[in-house]
Parts: sequence; C-alpha cells; structure tokens
Amino acid sequence: MGELAPDNWHLVAGGWWPTASPTALSLTSGPLYTQDSMIDSALIPPGLEAEALGALASAADEAAIEAWRVQWLGRQDGRLTALLRSVKEQPVESRAAFGAAANELKRKLESALADRNEAIRKEALRELSTSAALDVTLPGRPQAIGRLHPVTQTMRDIVKAFEEMGFRVAEGPEVEWDRYNFDAARIPEDHPARDMWDTIWVNTLIDGKRSMLLRTHTTPNQIRVMERTPEPPIRVIVPGKCYRQEATDATHEWMLTQIEALAVGEGVRMSDLKGVLYGMARKLFGNDRKIIFHHSYFPFVEPGVEMAMDCFICRGSGSDCRTCHGTGWIEILGAGMVHPEIIDKAGYDSSKHTGFALGIGVERVALLRWGIEDIRHFYQNDLRFLAQF
Ligand code: DAH
Repeated sequence: MGELAPDNWHLVAGGWWPTASPTALSLTSGPLYTQDSMIDSALIPPGLEAEALGALASAADEAAIEAWRVQWLGRQDGRLTALLRSVKEQPVESRAAFGAAANELKRKLESALADRNEAIRKEALRELSTSAALDVTLPGRPQAIGRLHPVTQTMRDIVKAFEEMGFRVAEGPEVEWDRYNFDAARIPEDHPARDMWDTIWVNTLIDGKRSMLLRTHTTPNQIRVMERTPEPPIRVIVPGKCYRQEATDATHEWMLTQIEALAVGEGVRMSDLKGVLYGMARKLFGNDRKIIFHHSYFPFVEPGVEMAMDCFICRGSGSDCRTCHGTGWIEILGAGMVHPEIIDKAGYDSSKHTGFALGIGVERVALLRWGIEDIRHFYQNDLRFLAQF
C-alpha cells in the first residue's frame, strides 16, 4: 500500500496491470483477472485464461482451491498440463511459439494460485480476529499463589522473636550419633530417661553396636555448639526436624519440629531464662500473656521446668475450654539451667559459666495459635487445610 499507481494502471495480484479492462483486487474474492492476455490467441484458445482465473476467483475455500489446482495444473489430468503435452502435436513452425505461450499461461496460473491462497489465508485470519476475538476486558486466569506452611510460619516467628533478643541461628544434623543425642545430654544407655524418647535407629552397627539415629530432639546441638565455641558467651537457637517412634494421634506425630535455645555466659541466671520466655510468649501470643513455671525433670538441666502460658482463648475462665482443658494454662515448652556437668564437659568452668536452655515444640505452638485440634493435619498435604493459614 501507499504506492502510487501509474496512470491507468491498477495493482492486481502483486503486479501493475492496465486498467483498460478494470480489475479489482479483493482480499475476500481473490484477484480477479479479466484482462485479455498477452498470450497469442491464435495459438492458445481464447478465453481459456479468463475461464481458469474466473474459476479460481470463485473458489471460496482451501478445498475449492485445491480442486481448482488439480483441474488446471494437476500433473495427471490438469487442463494446462494437457495443453503443454500437446506441444508436440503442433505444426513444426508454430511449435516453439505455442510452447512459450503455454508456459507463460502456466506461470500466470501458478502465480494467481499463490495469490489466491494468500488471500484466503488472510481472510481466514481476519474472520478469526472478529469471531473468536480475544476479549481483553475479561479477567485473566488467576495464578494460584502459594504460602508458607503453618509450621514454617510459626517457626519463623519464633526464630524472629529470639533473633530480636540477640540469639543467632545454628543448624545440626538430623541423623545423629547416640552419644550426642543421649550420652552427652546425660542420658546414658539403659538409663530409664531414654524411654522419654522412643528412638528411630539407623541400621548401621559400629563395633557391633547401633549408634546412629534420627535425632529425637534438638538438644544434642547444645553440645555441638559448645564444642565449637572455645569461650562463652553463647546465645544460639537451633531449629529443625526431630523424629520419634510414636503411635500417632491427635497430639503426637513421628516427625516434629523443635527449636532449641542455649545461652551460656558469666552470671546467666534463671531470671534471664524467665525474661527470654516472657519476651517470646508476648511476641507470639500478645502483650498481656502471663507465664508460669512448673518443676520438671530433664537429665540435661538442673533445675528443669516446664513453662505454661495463660490460655489466650478463655483467659483461664472457661471450664469447657478445648485449648487449655479448663485449667487456664497451656504447657508450651521444657527449659532449665544447663547441668554443670555439661558445662564442664564442654571445657568451660561451671564455677564461672552458667547457662539456660529450652526446647520448644513448634507444632504445639502452631496448634495453639490457630486452635487446630489435630497435629496430623499438618503433614497430610491437604490443601483445603493448608490454604487456611
Ligand atoms: N529436649 C526436650 C524434649 O525433647 C525439650 C527440652 C527440655 C529442651 C528442657 C531443653 C530443656 O533444652 O532445657 O523433649
């Protein structure tokens, strides 16, 4: 487009043609060619070209065009093919001119065919763009956005609360030696306290003894961190998965997430532990939380405590509260002062260095936080459950 037509010429099928016998290029009907040809009508039957081109122009779809191609240019019985074959029947003197004229006609039909095909293709596109038009005002298909698992969310919130109180984060192995998981935490073999942690062992014997296990708690990392810290102070938390041979029920899973915290230094006291736990409970559950300690026993701390928080659902009032079972308090973690034997074994001096430690069950906190009644929901991968958090 945009080309200026020479006087009395008309753009047809990609070339300039005289307008003496008017032709029109229509994308919908294809190039129409009615101009009397430059082909010698004494040699080629007059009207043959017009007939072919007229038929092509009225072929309205791909199938009709193909039928036209077979009829005119088909190798077997195409009319033009027959015409070309008849060259040898022509008188010798006009044979060359006849051949040239027939070839010229063939070339014209081929190029008209290409143009017609192109026109039909464009027309089909144009139709498509109006009939099956893309409606840009329709809303797009929503991309489903994922989210963090409720246990991961809770873990990150707890980690953040501790980080804000000056703790850094360390990690330890999930496949652990029994000497870290138990012995170094003052739980020797055959000690009844091992029953508190039903253990999944790794089936590798060393000197005929099983000694590798899936850690039952994050506590072995107290020892691992102290081993690689030549001199206190230590302020560290260790989040991670733990494993127990449990019969699963609403409050027990064989895999659980814990966060261990350890602080060691000169003059670290029970009141520091209390302050840190207050800080954490309030950050997670609101500023008006109260906490209470009960005496408890864990071999690696002395004294050992369990911490409970006042029930944030019923605030201690409802006897039928499902969250605190009417007691008004919810146990959320174990803690205590690091046993002096462990401090000394780490190469520190327990007359100078003291410490506190605590271990939080992250699933338990998540259960409380959202009032979820069954811990097994967390690991069943049911999106109807998970998408709620
Ligand atoms: N390791 C204990 C458990 O699995 C939790 C725990 C209790 C950790 C007291 C501590 C602690 O660091 O002082 O059940």
